[in-house]
Amino acid sequence: MIYLDHNATTAVAPAVLVEMVDAIERAWANPSSTHGPGQVARRLLADARTRVAAYLGCSGAELVFTSGATEANHQALLGALAARATERRQRIVMSAVEHPGLLALGRRLRAQGFAVDLIPVDGQGRLDLAAAQALLIGDDVALVSVMGANNETGVLMPTAEIAEIAHRQGAWLHVDATQLLGKCELSFAASGADLMAVSAHKIAGPKGIGALAVRKGLALPPLLAGRQERQRRGGTENLPGIAGFAAACDLARAEQPEAIARMTALRDALERAVLREWPQVHLYGAQAARLPNTSCLRFGELDAEQVLGRLERAGVVASSGAACSAGGTEPSHVLLALGATPLQARAGCASRSDAGRRRWKSNLHSMRCGASSRRCLLPPRWRPEPTGSTR
Ligand SMILES: Cc1ncc(COP(=O)(O)O)c(C=O)c1O
Repeated sequence: MIYLDHNATTAVAPAVLVEMVDAIERAWANPSSTHGPGQVARRLLADARTRVAAYLGCSGAELVFTSGATEANHQALLGALAARATERRQRIVMSAVEHPGLLALGRRLRAQGFAVDLIPVDGQGRLDLAAAQALLIGDDVALVSVMGANNETGVLMPTAEIAEIAHRQGAWLHVDATQLLGKCELSFAASGADLMAVSAHKIAGPKGIGALAVRKGLALPPLLAGRQERQRRGGTENLPGIAGFAAACDLARAEQPEAIARMTALRDALERAVLREWPQVHLYGAQAARLPNTSCLRFGELDAEQVLGRLERAGVVASSGAACSAGGTEPSHVLLALGATPLQARAGCASRSDAGRRRWKSNLHSMRCGASSRRCLLPPRWRPEPTGSTR
């Protein structure tokens, strides 16, 4: 099997597994306990926190371990609304292409009476900064939430510019940086963001563990009350997950520069080859700055599930849209936001290759296969669409 769906999740790296097993065996006690075994667990937690913080470019004190990016996103939005209620800042502004979990939270907040505004993107998937500026007029915005890169198209978002616009209006900025991990240089300190969500399972770490970076001095209430994580996230810490997250961060840090160069070269080679063979294929975000591992392609108006089924029978696993909404019949909200018709938005599919180098050989193979054996990849009835409608 050739796996091209690394934006959905990655396989756990052996070195990560070793640290997780060690944490289960050696640091089994509760890190809040004051006895000896508790202190072993506490030291492991402190060490892991330092390593994750080093990779994310923040201090250990700024890091709150969560069950993943979804929880971190929820804490950022709900925490900001709660923290800023006395200032009467009760409006949220977020991009129209955020992760489905965040958009669902936005809809829930709207139903509860909060104002939630969406920043549109252009036909390339780039954030509309002028629209963002217009939406931020006034002094009622609690938080702006913008992802670092889109999980479907890979298009990078101008978070530094958004930070400036948001701060000028007194709003906080939350960045869902989940897709930047392992694929882009990342520094919470340099980003200008006040809050940042990440998840371990995108970089060969385990599922069910992530973090929210909270800028020093920001009073953010917890989602789950309790004493742990400096009273910012109650519940006994997931030590095996946290140990695995730290190991994954170490790996990403060591491999990232080389991995980025390789991914970029392979992604470009794949896209060049596909577009040379089938000029009618549409590459979403072709003119935009994108993640080095992501290609979002549309084969005419063929349904993505049809293309993906063909690919899988040929041994290549890819996906259309976020894993949590895949399999549904709804067109991709991301591609709709880029201006695709519902039919076209159902036809998009993405190749998301490995952020690390561990499974690199298989990706290389998959890209060559994708570029050279079109008959095994495309349904027989596929025909180029008429010129003039290539979105
Ligand atoms: C941009 C983005 N945000 C949030 C998530 C959710 O992360 P988690 O699975 O850790 O909750 C994902 C991945 O699924 C993602 O790609």
